[in-house]
Amino acid sequence: MDGKVCLVTGANSGIGRETALALAKMGATVTLVARDPAKGGATLDDIKRESGNEHVELMLADLASLDSIRQLATDFRAKHQQLHVLVNNAGSYNAQRSETKDGFETTFGVNHLAYVLLTSLLLDLLKASAPARIINVSSGAHKGASINFDDLHSNDGYRGMGVYGQSKLANVLFTYELARRLEGTGVTANCLHPGVVRTNFGRNNTGIFGSLFVVFQVVARPFLLTPAQGAETSIYLASSPEVEGVTGKYFVKKQPVESNKVSQDIEVAKRLWQVSEEMVK
Ligand SMILES: NC(=O)c1ccc[n+]([C@@H]2O[C@H](COP(=O)([O-])OP(=O)(O)OC[C@H]3O[C@@H](n4cnc5c(N)ncnc54)[C@H](OP(=O)(O)O)[C@@H]3O)[C@@H](O)[C@H]2O)c1
Repeated sequence: MDGKVCLVTGANSGIGRETALALAKMGATVTLVARDPAKGGATLDDIKRESGNEHVELMLADLASLDSIRQLATDFRAKHQQLHVLVNNAGSYNAQRSETKDGFETTFGVNHLAYVLLTSLLLDLLKASAPARIINVSSGAHKGASINFDDLHSNDGYRGMGVYGQSKLANVLFTYELARRLEGTGVTANCLHPGVVRTNFGRNNTGIFGSLFVVFQVVARPFLLTPAQGAETSIYLASSPEVEGVTGKYFVKKQPVESNKVSQDIEVAKRLWQVSEEMVK
């Protein structure tokens, strides 16, 4: 990955951290995106030390704010003329309904709309750097989900798992539509399920739900992947010559597999694209 420029969101924790570390170890120039300066700074120091790569930097952004995402893109473009790998990874499960700075339901806003806006703001750089790759971290949780176009921000009843599944289905639909639109540009777009991984996922929740995630991770510990194992498919998609030119696929354990039926519906993908574009302006 020498000479390649990579950007990873959610890079201070879990799967994102391990993805950024692996890319740094391979010699890439890596931009870590985090919202918390202390957590991000500590991760930056660790990754530089563990990889021996000085070409690692931190950029701060709250992906629950369109202005902050725009600022991130501006900051990145001020420093870099190229981008070869964009890993949209940051995401969260929210047991209680909350809203982003722009009034979007947080799960839909951070897990889906942030992927859409950041990608679109960096797309010309990716095209100019082709061959380039976009990797969207989705989840097997997309499988039982559908897109509720009548209530995308879950104003009318909120179920954390349903809303999370919808956002991860949106990742798959966005990836497929993006791949179709990028045909012939040399920029590929793929998404993935990382497995069930022992990270800080879910810990943002307080009360009973926060405690349930902790208990689950203790009880299920022997069956959970480590963050490094959970990052393997992201790293593969970001760096392996085996997937050069491969686009519009959903990967599990480094293999393309079939995603759910709704995700393959081109009309749903087009409609989601259009409404998302309107939301992020
Ligand atoms: N763990 C699993 O079993 C699993 C399974 C399927 C899919 N996934 C997906 O994998 C991805 C990474 O999750 P993980 O398991 O590594 O969880 P994690 O350890 O909680 O990491 C999530 C990252 O996203 C960041 N993030 C969340 N909201 C943000 C915001 N508003 N602005 C900026 N950054 C924000 C977090 O920052 P803070 O540290 O500041 O909160 C953190 O760096 C997510 O997209 C998740 O949906 C995970």
